[in-house]
Amino acid sequence: MMSDEPVVAVGDKADAKARVLSMFTEMAPTYGAGADLFDVFGRALVDAAAIQPGELVLDLACGRGACLRPASQAVGVGGHVVGLDLSPRMVELTADELRRDEVANAEVRVGDAEHLDFADESFDVLTCGFGVFFFPQPAASIEARRVLRAGGRFAASTFTDTLLDYPWLPEVIEEIGLPNEMRTRSGQTAPLLKADGLSQILSDVGFERVAITSSEHRFVFPDVDGYLLWVRSHAFGALLSRLSERDLRRFRDGCERRLRDHEAADGYELVKRVHLTVAHCP
Ligand SMILES: C[S@@+](CC[C@H](N)C(=O)[O-])C[C@H]1O[C@@H](n2cnc3c(N)ncnc32)[C@H](O)[C@@H]1O
Repeated sequence: MMSDEPVVAVGDKADAKARVLSMFTEMAPTYGAGADLFDVFGRALVDAAAIQPGELVLDLACGRGACLRPASQAVGVGGHVVGLDLSPRMVELTADELRRDEVANAEVRVGDAEHLDFADESFDVLTCGFGVFFFPQPAASIEARRVLRAGGRFAASTFTDTLLDYPWLPEVIEEIGLPNEMRTRSGQTAPLLKADGLSQILSDVGFERVAITSSEHRFVFPDVDGYLLWVRSHAFGALLSRLSERDLRRFRDGCERRLRDHEAADGYELVKRVHLTVAHCP
């Protein structure tokens, strides 16, 4: 049975892809800058995939390299990692960083997870950090299976709830009364594909031994502005950049009120748990 969980897409497939592309192209320069959340869970995903020295890895939806970088360390000098992302801006910025840091065993390319431009059985491992819910499924999972060798692994992270940070964030948006167009643009109005839905899709397309584990981590924002910096650096950021000064102040006030419930000795804490799904190619 196929999962009936919708992917993030609102509207038709081409529209949804264009929206995702435009959102991440805008976010690319500051993506993830406000907290090390993507890096922490990128490392956790690479650990879950048990990447070995010498392996060939494809990192789907590589963004700014949260999984690509630890994967390149795991494969070592004898291995190679290819990062693929829909957004040319993400790819350009990540390529600049790889050159700057003289990472010789990794490269990045523009591409679409739905149509992979690689021969059958090209890779030992596919990783995908917080990307599967943007892909048309099951097409992307079928492609993933096609480019993996027999015995290869597919590893993907997904959110345990519908959002990247505090569950009240949509409430604040609601309070401001944002126009619908802006909310759909942020990709937050449709339920996201989660681990159980992904696991079902992977089994349906022929993956075996699909296992879901959790990874939990505590993040701390030093103050309200530190939190807002983080919000600006992920998917919600594209939405905030369109708010008027007045609405931005209302957004800040709404966050400040709710953040008090998360006060700790070192700032406002966010304990985030994500799911890591690993599946094997027969
Ligand atoms: C939430 S970010 C995750 C980036 C990175 N993997 C990480 O863990 O930080 C999602 C990424 O998926 C990319 N993306 C969305 N749809 C895609 C598709 N169909 N093919 C390839 N990349 C896609 C976006 O451009 C964006 O960089």
